[in-house]
This record gives sequence, C-alpha cells and structure tokens, in this order.
Amino acid sequence: MKRSEEEYLGRIVEELKKGKWVSGEFLSERLQISRTQVWKSINKLKKLGYSIKGLRRSGYLLCSSPDIPYPWEMMPLGRFRNFIFFESIDSTNTYLFSLAKEGAEEGTVVIANSQTAGRGRYGRKWFSPKGNIFMSFLLRPECPAEKGGFITLLSGLACAMGIEKFGIKVALKWPNDLLIGSRKVGGILCESSVENGNISFAVIGIGINMYLPKKRNELIKNATSLAENGFKGKRVELIQKIIEEFETLYEKFLKGDTCFIIEEYKRRTLPYGEIITVKMGERIIKGKFAGIENDGSLLIMEGEKINKIYTGEVLQ
Ligand code: BTN
Repeated sequence: MKRSEEEYLGRIVEELKKGKWVSGEFLSERLQISRTQVWKSINKLKKLGYSIKGLRRSGYLLCSSPDIPYPWEMMPLGRFRNFIFFESIDSTNTYLFSLAKEGAEEGTVVIANSQTAGRGRYGRKWFSPKGNIFMSFLLRPECPAEKGGFITLLSGLACAMGIEKFGIKVALKWPNDLLIGSRKVGGILCESSVENGNISFAVIGIGINMYLPKKRNELIKNATSLAENGFKGKRVELIQKIIEEFETLYEKFLKGDTCFIIEEYKRRTLPYGEIITVKMGERIIKGKFAGIENDGSLLIMEGEKINKIYTGEVLQ
C-alpha cells in the first residue's frame, strides 16, 4: 500500500472512531479528496476488516475495527514513529535489516500479520501463522558492541512488562526467551551490524504467540500462547504497551542507567540454584543457576566453580 493511501485510510478511521455518523461530503472536504475517492477508501477499509455501515443520507458509521496492527492504528511514541505493516512477509527482521542498510531511520517498526520464513536464534525456524505478533524495531545505538547483550535483555524485559500489564505473569529465560510457567510464549532475535567495534544499527525481532493451534507441530511442541493463559486484551494494545515499555527501558540504557533494567530482569528469572544446562557453541555446561551479573552476563555454578557466560543459551 502506498504511503498516501495509508494516510487517507488513517485519517478516515480517525474521523470514524469519533463514534458518530460521518458524511461522505465531510470526509471529502476534510481530506481534500473526491467523493469517489472517499467511497473507494471506505470499501478498502471494509476489505481490511473494518465493519462500516453506510446510509445515503447519514454517511458512514464505524461498527467495529479489526485487531490488526495497521500503521494508522499505532500511536507514535518517542523514537517509534515510522510503522510499516505487511499482511505477510518472509521475515520482519530480514526486511528491516535491509532497510537499515539503506539508511532507514531509527525507530522504524516493521510488523507483519504472518511470516513465511520467520527466523529464531541459531538459524531455527519461527512458527509464524496469521494473528500472532511478529515485529522488528530498528535502533542505532552507536554503543560498543559489548553492550549489545544488554539490548537483548531489555527487549525481553520490555515484552514481559508489556504482557504483565494484562495481568499475565511472564518469566525470562536468559538471554531472551519469554516463558509462562515453563513454556515458551515468545522470543527475541537481535541482529546487529558492527563497525569499528560499535553497533551501527541493531534490529530487534520480537515474536509472541497470541494463539497456537491445538495440534502442535515439532516447532511448537513445548510452546504456549497468551490465549491459553487467559489473555483478554487486543493484539494492537499489547504491541503499543511493549513499545511504551521498550522506549522507557531503552532511554534508561542510553543514559547508562542499567541498574533498573538488571534488577527488573532478575525479578523475572529462574529461581537461583535451579539446575540448568548452558550451550555456548560446542561447549555445554551443566550446573546451578547463580544469577545475572550487572553487565548482563549469566552466572552458573559448576561444582565450586562459577562460570560467567556472555553469549549462549540456556537449554533447560
Ligand atoms: C527465538 O526465540 O529464537 C527468537 C524468535 C524471534 C522471532 C521474531 S518474529 C519477528 C522477527 N522476524 C523473524 O524472522 N524473527 C523475529
């Protein structure tokens, strides 16, 4: 969809959301477009899932909006002002990474209703059917590459805090898995470009399961969804909340105020002493979870020895 078309649709929705009948004449004057263009836009909105009543004398009345994160449904906030939506795309991360290379602005958000080649960490596939959350944020932190791990942690935390606003408790499995109980409900895929030791840009990919089919396939056999855990909110509202939390945490990170992030992260991690297995490349360590350090690394006790892990994944 062209930007100009999106703009008209957005402005029509804005008028309709005021909750009253709106005449075609009013819309045509307000938007400086022809009556035919208004009629076409209303039809387009109906195709996009909006339920709109039309009466020759009174005009149009919005009866309901779909829970789809179209750009005009998103409220610009802080650096997040540029929203791009796809009904379906290969991967929001792949797309945004190439936009970033072409110079896209910080705060660009790409959201898709479904993905055909969704990617998880370590080259895994990410199950991406319609109706779930698939989105990527573009950041240009210009910070040393060593600090990149922090961005991953704060991204997971922002999602957890966003979901918690809807009354669902989320745990964080280092570095970037979102769990409900012991099942995965979401994950973060951070991909960055480093120049001269600094992160020139980072693409933060967020996948959250809103609904999953009852019949589990291999990719989601241990996963859960928000719907299975009593989520009653709207997807659009949740995305907005995550963006709000992200913006606040990221501002703190840029100011060097990482204590808050680590403290909040720690409150949601596994209980200390739990036996975990950590995989770092080919190396595997089994031991007791001993906490998260202030620099975002994971501590694991292997007998009497404490190991500090900067990159890797907790297997269980
Ligand atoms: C993981 O847990 O392995 C990370 C999963 C990240 C999935 C999201 S969905 C949106 C974005 N686009 C992708 O292809 N992957 C990320």
